[in-house]
Amino acid sequence: MRERAEPKESIEVATSAKVLSDPAMQFVSDVRAGLCRPGQKELPSKYLYDALGFALFEAISLLPEYGLTRADERLLRRHAEEIVRHVPGPTLVAELGSGSGRKTRWILTALCQREPVSYYPVEISRAALASCESELSDIESVSIVGVEREYLDGLREVAAQRPDGMRLLVMFLGSTIGNFDAGADARFLREVRSVLALGDSLLLGTDLLKPVERMLEAYDDRLGVTAAFNRNLLGRMNRELDSDFDLRQFEHVARFNQAACSIEMHLRSKTRQVVSVRRGGFAVTFAAGETIWTESSHKYTRHEIANLAVSSGFRTEAQWLDDEWPFAENLLRAV
Ligand code: AVI
Repeated sequence: MRERAEPKESIEVATSAKVLSDPAMQFVSDVRAGLCRPGQKELPSKYLYDALGFALFEAISLLPEYGLTRADERLLRRHAEEIVRHVPGPTLVAELGSGSGRKTRWILTALCQREPVSYYPVEISRAALASCESELSDIESVSIVGVEREYLDGLREVAAQRPDGMRLLVMFLGSTIGNFDAGADARFLREVRSVLALGDSLLLGTDLLKPVERMLEAYDDRLGVTAAFNRNLLGRMNRELDSDFDLRQFEHVARFNQAACSIEMHLRSKTRQVVSVRRGGFAVTFAAGETIWTESSHKYTRHEIANLAVSSGFRTEAQWLDDEWPFAENLLRAV
């Protein structure tokens, strides 16, 4: 996920044209930086997830072509008890990017056989937090405290509240780690490690490299849900930044970048066109065929995961692999 901006208080700031809240200003400034830069235009993938984008991602996770979420959930469901046996207790649970919380149910259910659990989903999407809280509220002995923050800020906040003698289990599921830029995944894990104490655990979901054809289908499904998810970013700029993107004049492109071992999503301009972003007071010219790079989804090898763990201050305690969709659930221990 290319750079998640630090959350700011939603203070009202006067600009020459309109009154904008701070997150809206951050959005304008990221859009300006990404679309007005020389060379490849790009936008941070975190902006794919407004309420509509979040709902479209939930739909993606049900697509026959996109096996990632089901593989993640299958592993957690099948191995929850074993995973929990590897996690020393008593423990607080923090989940970075909980999404709907559906996959987390299995781990929480297994953990609360052993002890009452405090669960802190950390999310920037209010819609996701609300859906997660309602999805999991029926599990007895689990108290849910939503943290509407960026991942690291939220994690620091949870760690600061930990009572003496409690361990921390951090969950980072769904291979969201693969959405970071090359190198940023390791930097992020090092930051996570710096918040943890020796012996704390990180449960990390990673999508694995598979045949290119299968990966491309997963990011360019026949129903066009992924295309809608991608194009919604243009719709979001129209809604929130008063821009005038014509969504029909951009097509969704999924391609495999061999060197980076990543599936990239782009939005390709069908014609030469000029788009105004009125709230930012600027316009952007697109050549026919020019793309906006909106997301990278890195696919890992097992060897790479092992190196990533070691280089960020963890050791691999255990790993579980899915047999239908190459995906690894990795339990890492802070060392
Ligand atoms: C959230 N993330 C792991 C998804 C992925 O597969 O990289 C986002 C996604 N983009 C298109 N389809 C799904």
